Amino acid sequence: QAPSDRARYVGAIDQGTTSTRFMVFDHAGAEVARHQVEHEQIMPRAGWVEHDATEIWRNTELCIREALAGADLTHADLAAVGVTNQRETTVVWDRRTGEPYANAIVWQDTRTAEIAAEADEKHGDLIRHRSGLPPAAYFAGGKIAWVLANVDGVRDDAEAGHAIFGTIDTWLLWWLTGGPDGGQHLVDVTNASRTMLMDLETLAWDDELLAVFDVPRQMLPEIRSSSEVYGTTLADGPFGGEVRLAGDLGDQHAALVGQACFEPGQLKNTYGTGNFLVLNTGTEIVRSSHGLLTTLGYKFGDAPAVYALEGSIAVTGSAIQWLRDQLGLIDDAAETEALAASVEDTGDVYFVPAFSGLFAPHWRPDARGVIVGLSRFNTKAHLARAALEAICFQSKDVVDAMVVDAGLDLSILRVDGGVTANDLCMQIQSDVLGVTVSRPVVTETTALGAAYAAGLAVGFWSSCEELVDNWQESKQWEPQWDDAQRTSAHAKWTKAVTRTHDWV
Ligand code: G3P
Repeated sequence: QAPSDRARYVGAIDQGTTSTRFMVFDHAGAEVARHQVEHEQIMPRAGWVEHDATEIWRNTELCIREALAGADLTHADLAAVGVTNQRETTVVWDRRTGEPYANAIVWQDTRTAEIAAEADEKHGDLIRHRSGLPPAAYFAGGKIAWVLANVDGVRDDAEAGHAIFGTIDTWLLWWLTGGPDGGQHLVDVTNASRTMLMDLETLAWDDELLAVFDVPRQMLPEIRSSSEVYGTTLADGPFGGEVRLAGDLGDQHAALVGQACFEPGQLKNTYGTGNFLVLNTGTEIVRSSHGLLTTLGYKFGDAPAVYALEGSIAVTGSAIQWLRDQLGLIDDAAETEALAASVEDTGDVYFVPAFSGLFAPHWRPDARGVIVGLSRFNTKAHLARAALEAICFQSKDVVDAMVVDAGLDLSILRVDGGVTANDLCMQIQSDVLGVTVSRPVVTETTALGAAYAAGLAVGFWSSCEELVDNWQESKQWEPQWDDAQRTSAHAKWTKAVTRTHDWV
């Protein structure tokens, strides 16, 4: 259906690691409304990171109500709503009450490192081939296994069909469609592809993988495409009326869609607490031999699934927060730009923020952060610049892996996320990679991608071409380093990375 006079917009719930937001977009992909609320980061022990899933649901309700009220909109203005979410974060709850059995275990949480290591030792090849993922604490399968083994009563309730699992999209869609009173229990292929439990080829839960982690099948949501009508919201819910829920994508997959990377070979890099590079590989499954994840890009309705290669980097923007909160070197993350620009280079200092080990392409849970090359000459400006370089070198390591795994011939990198406001960092990114870096006008690509998926499902947008037309560049950066400078700086960085190994 063409956008009617009334339903001129599409909404998106963007549930991230540190905050939740609800945004509304118009047909041109421009922002019309937003409201955002942060939630508590619960860290009961070293390496553990939890969220209160009920707080997240309450915040979601609040964001929807406030964003609509703030822009004088109602549910009737929305043609559809999409959901996008922090991925891998695991909730297990009682379907009879909506009560979680424990706090959600966040993707950054490393408590399941041993479960992952054991699975790797016994079934590493199976997991890699079938799910596309190298066994790691990062993914949801081990987190479900942990809850089943460590939280009283969950195993029995799961066998009885009462305890159910979901990633955050699943949790929110369940509440939005009725919760204990008939809520839909579903997940899209992109979120399911982060569990180590889904077969990449059949896009179905895999019995052998379920056996590896001893997860009862009845706990799991139904796997659906990323763009279809899943159900409608309740009249007495936060929308105050019925709206079609029609998009569901993990946040990094949503950003790929929001960046309109619909062609094989197109790559986006999202700069947040971590960095996530996702390369569209088309309908082909490209298996990585250089530390990348094979994952779903998106699947729109009945159209064939589009696959992707991903390089997930755990610590990038959060290293800047560390300079601010733990070291007190800056008061505000944005200060790093002027501070780093006050020196010409890092004074030969390299900072590898391997705070939770190294993710792609290294996958070294044993690594910890290092700062190397310090001399008496160095100041906090050098350290700030080294932190920005670390964001860019980590991204380069992933791009280099994509070059070999997928034969990527990169000429332009599309970027989004908070750190892209830092001009110096984007210039360094272009210097380090030797390619053009391009930032779109709408940098909220995650929420936009979820809105696009929902809008496509209900005919608000008619095709991907329309979305490509919506994409507009706001700024680009060209490389200023010559090849010799690039090669020698990267060689130094690589040496610094080796210094992080074998620490834990
Ligand atoms: O895989 C984790 C990722 O989805 C989290 O993204 O932006 O919420 O930190 P973000």
